[in-house]
Amino acid sequence: MQDAIATLPKVELHLHIEGSLEPELMFALAERNDVDLPYASVEEVRAAYQFHDLQSFLDIYYAGACVLLTEQDFYDLTWAYLERCRDDHVRHTEIFFDPQTHTERGVPFATVIDGIHRALADGERELGITSRLILCFLRHLSAEAAMETLETALPWREHIHAVGLDSAELGNPPEKFQAVFERARAEGFPAVAHAGEEGPPDYIWQALDLLKVARIDHGVQAEQDPDLMQRLAREQIPLTVCPLSNIKLCVFERLEQHNLKRLMDAGLCVTISSDDPAYFGGYVGENFRATAAALQLDLDDLEKLARNAVDAAFLEASAKQRLH
Ligand code: HPA
Ligand code: ZN
Repeated sequence: MQDAIATLPKVELHLHIEGSLEPELMFALAERNDVDLPYASVEEVRAAYQFHDLQSFLDIYYAGACVLLTEQDFYDLTWAYLERCRDDHVRHTEIFFDPQTHTERGVPFATVIDGIHRALADGERELGITSRLILCFLRHLSAEAAMETLETALPWREHIHAVGLDSAELGNPPEKFQAVFERARAEGFPAVAHAGEEGPPDYIWQALDLLKVARIDHGVQAEQDPDLMQRLAREQIPLTVCPLSNIKLCVFERLEQHNLKRLMDAGLCVTISSDDPAYFGGYVGENFRATAAALQLDLDDLEKLARNAVDAAFLEASAKQRLH
């Protein structure tokens, strides 16, 4: 089973590129850029990764991103993730980036996207890994700031496939961003949104009905609402579930209690991704391995999860056929 998981061709649909910043690279970039870190060593950084909810993680995650300053930094970050993809047999990946985390610190949008894009182009050429880039709005910031970010991004529209919504969920419902998602749709961008990670099922309804998303990121709280479960199953709305993330952020106490298999058994289109692997203790392969062991998934389940991710990807039919 371990070998089958290792070589299973995978598609990753929920990965924050800033969340793939390993402590070793964080230290190297801090030195290169002369940035002071509040940690004395890589071990101290890893020891600080004890979270009790989403916000306690976000505080550390945004602080870590401060070492990212130059185009080369964003290239190195993205390239390091692509090497992990190669090791995990990931053939296609759809990557979130959070421009506001960087523009708020004075790093130009161009620096961020040019570095990420250059690595993704090299990844396709040298590693054969295809990718899509998803621009995420930070939901703890204002709707106006999100609209400005979208407008700033438009000159790079060729490099951006879709828009998303992330950061602190509770108190920042999807409805706050209805206008910016409408504008993004008018500009031709499909949408996804984090919903039902910590937030209530109502946020998932809003993401579907107001933001018109094609996928729900996380979505595990849907289980509390039978009508919503029926809709997700009927419309085969993909959920990008991140099991190790959910444990690290205390959405579930133990992996054995995770509802991923119940969601599958209810007929939902469930996929597995890693979210912020440098912070949550595993890339996508490890998420497959740990979840399979904890929930006693069989090979059919694992192949179904991998197939669902191909179906849920922002790819044309011919590319999906090649991945199936
Ligand atoms: N949830 C919300 N925002 C995020 C996450 C997450 O899991 N990871 C990075 N930003
Ligand atoms: Zn996420």
